Amino acid sequence: MITLYINENKKMGHINPEIYGHFSEHLGRCIYEGLYVGENSEIPNVNGMRTDVVEALKELKVPVLRWPGGCFADEYHWKDGVGPKDKRKKMVNTNWGGVTEDNSFGTHEFFELCEQLGCKTYVNGNVGSGTVQEMSEWVEYMTLDGVSPMADWRRENGREKPWKVDYFGVGNENWGCGGNMTPDYYAHLYRRYQTYIRCYDKNAPIFKICGGANADDYEWTDVVLRECFRNPAPPEAHGFMDGLSVHYYAGVEKGIHKGSATDFDEAVWFNTLARALYIEEVLTRHSAIMDTYDPEKKIGMMVDEWGCWHDVEPGTNPGFLYQQNTMRDALTAGVSLNIFNKHCDRIKMACIAQIVNVLQSVILTEGKKMLLTPTYHVFHMYKHHQDAELVESWLEGAGKIGLKEQEMVPDVQESVSVDKDGVLTITLNNLSPEEERQMEVVLTKKEPSRIEAKIVRGRMQSYNTFEEPEQVKEEAFTQIQVTDRGLSFTMPACSVMMIRVK
Ligand code: AHR
Repeated sequence: MITLYINENKKMGHINPEIYGHFSEHLGRCIYEGLYVGENSEIPNVNGMRTDVVEALKELKVPVLRWPGGCFADEYHWKDGVGPKDKRKKMVNTNWGGVTEDNSFGTHEFFELCEQLGCKTYVNGNVGSGTVQEMSEWVEYMTLDGVSPMADWRRENGREKPWKVDYFGVGNENWGCGGNMTPDYYAHLYRRYQTYIRCYDKNAPIFKICGGANADDYEWTDVVLRECFRNPAPPEAHGFMDGLSVHYYAGVEKGIHKGSATDFDEAVWFNTLARALYIEEVLTRHSAIMDTYDPEKKIGMMVDEWGCWHDVEPGTNPGFLYQQNTMRDALTAGVSLNIFNKHCDRIKMACIAQIVNVLQSVILTEGKKMLLTPTYHVFHMYKHHQDAELVESWLEGAGKIGLKEQEMVPDVQESVSVDKDGVLTITLNNLSPEEERQMEVVLTKKEPSRIEAKIVRGRMQSYNTFEEPEQVKEEAFTQIQVTDRGLSFTMPACSVMMIRVK
């Protein structure tokens, strides 16, 4: 028996909705085909955005969308993507398959998409191959209400009022595809570039994100904070940044062959989940460095790329990073989101990579068809954590499972929050591919008036196809007994659960 204790009277921090964020890049079929099909497409769309995908994403309450990259961001020249579409310059997408990018999805289209989704906007600027002036003028184009060359040009292009840029990223992976910079060099560029991200409307501040480390590169975090946060820290501001990004993919560590997305055995199952859970150590160690510079936690950690990175589907363009999504991905999402919740004192945003048709997507498309992946269903169940308060919770009786000593994982993992209406959301993962677990939940408040539970379950390798799109789906879970101490139930093997208790 595993017992989950919940002390709902002890609040541990606010779960920023943006922890449930998404990332969209000009990569493969993410933007084109996945999100945007153009006004003249036979696929039903509103202003070019495909209706089926937008409607499904609205169900997730997508809180924020990051765009245009990724590696693409540091080669993107925004001026090529505004104005009449037939006059927009074409370019080669050198990072992703060498395909022609026709720039038909640009700044105006991005904001249209975010308006349809009702989400916040996260625009990622170009440091690697762009100038300070180019970045500064983009911000002016997007956010200035007054008279200026850029604001006037925006109006000529059909948008009278400025948009709200909630988050602005100053470069992406500048240790790699964003310019192969050293941390010192990037830090000094960051200080300069961010100076010209002007805030034209004091009521609409732009949250500046400094480019962060690759996974466990702790030196990067230390150097950029030393140079950009504390040195010097103007008293009224957070140094020069509001957030620092970090990227972590389960599957691209050195020396590890990524492997098939769907064809894997139990050893690979545990290896992937162990690597997914390693993100907690990575985030804890980056947090500890952030604490030395910023003990008051003024700046946020933005995990703006995370997820599983497998081999592409056989027969697809290797540069398009199109991969299937099984229960292994669902469990990776479940444990990662629980970890982000538990570190919500520092983590203010996390964007899964990527929203449609690339890496660990929540949606896959094929022509007119669309399917929801197991990861989608996890995000759908977990959405109740958005904007809630994390509460103290812990497990007793949970064990470690696995096939190798260095790849042992917890059998059950959890996080719990309470929303403004006093409803608890409990999210649980059973990482055992074969064994169910007897669970007991001890609640502070006995005799709940309402219990609602959902589950996503399957075999390790279960996934949805366009022929059978509902192999894995969210289902009601009704086998919960109310006891003197709280709740009791059997949690099926290989499952992600969500219980709401009032
Ligand atoms: O998400 C795919 C790529 O992974 C992004 O473009 C880059 O930032 C990261 O390396």
